[in-house]
Amino acid sequence: MTALFEPWTLRDVTIPNRVWMPPMCQYSAAPKGPETGAPADWHFAHYAARAAGGTGLIIVEATAVSPEGRISPYDLGIWNDTQVEAFRRITRFLASQGTVPAIQLAHAGRKASTDRPWKGGAPIGPDAHGWDSVAPSPIAFDDRHPAPAELTTDQIRDVVGQFAAAARRALAAGFEIAEIHGAHGYLINEFLSPHSNHRTDAYGGSYENRTRFALEVVDAVRQVWPQDKPLFFRISATDWLEEDGWSADDTVRFAADLKAHGVDLLDVSTGGNASGVRIPTGPGYQVPFAARVKRETTLPVAAVGLITEVEQAEKILANGEADAVLLGRELLRNPSWARLAARELGGEVRVPDQYHRSV
Ligand SMILES: Cc1cc2nc3c(=O)[nH]c(=O)nc-3n(C[C@H](O)[C@H](O)[C@H](O)COP(=O)(O)O)c2cc1C
Repeated sequence: MTALFEPWTLRDVTIPNRVWMPPMCQYSAAPKGPETGAPADWHFAHYAARAAGGTGLIIVEATAVSPEGRISPYDLGIWNDTQVEAFRRITRFLASQGTVPAIQLAHAGRKASTDRPWKGGAPIGPDAHGWDSVAPSPIAFDDRHPAPAELTTDQIRDVVGQFAAAARRALAAGFEIAEIHGAHGYLINEFLSPHSNHRTDAYGGSYENRTRFALEVVDAVRQVWPQDKPLFFRISATDWLEEDGWSADDTVRFAADLKAHGVDLLDVSTGGNASGVRIPTGPGYQVPFAARVKRETTLPVAAVGLITEVEQAEKILANGEADAVLLGRELLRNPSWARLAARELGGEVRVPDQYHRSV
């Protein structure tokens, strides 16, 4: 038995292997009209190909809980029933391939309202379908971004409610796992980090206050997300700042809190909340952050970031550094990575009947 192809049951959901696809925005939804934020042909083809390729679990890209929570006007959203209906086609197909469908629920905070990355990704205004962004504090992400409006406590309560409503809709859309996006400098991450959170009320200052919003979101989602289905949380384990940022120590402490609030797995990424920092990237560069959480807490973890090689991925699991690996850009390059890895390692993976002659 290879570690990569060992099935895993979390709550009542069995994931056939440990080769997972992390959320990756496609910026390909309609920016206006009745289909706004709904998955389209591109999304279906994109996710279907990775499911047919044997990926054990697919986390659908950052999907906004409200229109203002989108990174760009072209993001997916899950705030209305048209969107739910459109997601069903994807979850149905993934399930037909034995791939577990998961979805990342997100709010972009002060990094909302930007153009698509391949158009430069600059902040945009109302003339280009843009809007004003919100955040814990009125501090712009960088020189290009306008300052966001500071959320009032009433508005914070509304956003918590939007996450719960989104989770309810995700369930109706056929998802088996929900992931809360607490990473990459988006709204939840902005609350966690003292770099972006300068509030002086119950939501800022101490560790307990800065983690309050995230835990309120977790509680609200956990309340509507069935007990037999897993809940994931994606975190940026460090801001990569020397001081006054969120640190790996904070992450270990917070992992225990998340576990106590009903989170089943920490998806461990880094960065995205402080502009202009140097991130020492390289093969598996974020794995040590996942490994530390796994070592020092009882919360299962997934590792992500420049994991591309079969042997490398197998070793991360065999060494006990993570419980699953997420392959992002490598799965964009090669949708059948899981199938080819299974062949190399002698692991078992489901091959679609239509492809039986390629086994
Ligand atoms: C095109 C693209 C879109 C992404 N969108 C998201 C996203 O929606 N949510 C998220 O948490 N991370 C997002 N990421 C980060 C990936 O999930 C992953 O953490 C990152 O690409 C590092 O893994 P890799 O080296 O295997 O690609 C995105 C990355 C790419 C390349």
